[in-house]
Amino acid sequence: MSPERSRLIVARGDGALVGWVLLRRDPDRLVGHWGSIHHLQTRPDRRGRGVGAALVGEARRVARDELGLEQLRLAARGGEGLEEFYARLGWREAGRWPGALRLAPGDDRDEVLMVLTPL
Ligand SMILES: CC(C)(COP(=O)(O)OP(=O)(O)OC[C@H]1O[C@@H](n2cnc3c(N)ncnc32)[C@H](O)[C@@H]1OP(=O)(O)O)[C@@H](O)C(=O)NCCC(=O)NCCS
Repeated sequence: MSPERSRLIVARGDGALVGWVLLRRDPDRLVGHWGSIHHLQTRPDRRGRGVGAALVGEARRVARDELGLEQLRLAARGGEGLEEFYARLGWREAGRWPGALRLAPGDDRDEVLMVLTPL
């Protein structure tokens, strides 16, 4: 049986969906010990209450304990304080693609590459 490829982790509050994050294993066997997280998002009216941090923490636990992964990575939009958000959760910046994201004419942002290891 092939290893589990992805997991959607959701957060609920008062019976409603308040956030989610997608955890993926790289399908390439060469980097199969790595995972990545995508689409972390919390409901705007529930932000600043620890839901985002809890989702990232749960993704880390699932990656380590259930998927047997050894490292996690992500790419975040620069200029929005996300590096600090993840750094407080143990992630570190591994590099960035300068000006890779064009949000609008004249608003280019770096794509910030972050890594979490060990899990
Ligand atoms: C980023 C995001 C998931 C954080 O969700 P959240 O539920 O507010 O997160 P938390 O409440 O766990 O925040 C934990 C801490 O980080 C801080 N924080 C949250 N978002 C931050 C940001 N963009 N920049 C800097 N700090 C941030 C919070 O103020 C909080 O600080 P505190 O512990 O001193 O109160 C949410 O703002 C979001 O959905 N943003 C839009 C989508 C997005 O940018 N996703 C990231 C993709 S890489």
